[in-house]
Amino acid sequence: MDQKELKRLVGQAALAYVKPGEILGVGTGSTVDCFIDALKESGIEVPACVSSSVRSTKKLQDYGFRVLDLNEVDRISVYVDGADEIDPQFCMIKGGGGALTREKIVAMVSDTFVCIADESKKVQVLGAFPLPIEVIPMAVRAVSREIEKLGGHPVLRDFTTDNGNKILDVHGWQLADARAWEEKLNQIVGVVTVGLFARRGADVLLLGTQEGVKTMLA
Ligand code: A5P
Repeated sequence: MDQKELKRLVGQAALAYVKPGEILGVGTGSTVDCFIDALKESGIEVPACVSSSVRSTKKLQDYGFRVLDLNEVDRISVYVDGADEIDPQFCMIKGGGGALTREKIVAMVSDTFVCIADESKKVQVLGAFPLPIEVIPMAVRAVSREIEKLGGHPVLRDFTTDNGNKILDVHGWQLADARAWEEKLNQIVGVVTVGLFARRGADVLLLGTQEGVKTMLA
């Protein structure tokens, strides 16, 4: 099976976690696109979704799903999203698609985070995938200097986030203690969101492998 097929399989498997009649949190990315396709085909009754990006909102609305602003919702029972890397503690690097800030906010208010990923995303130590950091535009150079002091190599992405900010993709870090790194990087003034999901990692991992979908619990 190729990567695309593995993404399709985990998107399908995530349907088992959707609670009919309850508001659903929906992430962003090509794996989530497969999940949205499967959700549409399933016919499961979802009263509304909260989405983590303009991209996913559009796809959901095109399929006829109602999408609510998070300010209209107090609680989400299940959030389904992908990852760029996930470690054995279910800490993740996210933000390859640039939606890290809204993803982190929706994840925060969700009871259960279901991560859907193909097996290429499972790593022992986070960091081979460059860490996305969303930054206030005027602080790009100042934050870059702080990152360099910590041994990272920031590369400015040619991209503006849904929130009007910039993204630095940081190469060269091995993020063994992901939680400590998340806390440290959060302290840099000008940083909006660090694409490390350690304090709020995944609760369930649906991993697409050549042997089928493996379900792992945190
Ligand atoms: C979006 O900003 C990301 O956090 C995605 O969840 C992550 O990049 C996974 O994307 P794919 O499913 O496209 O690999």
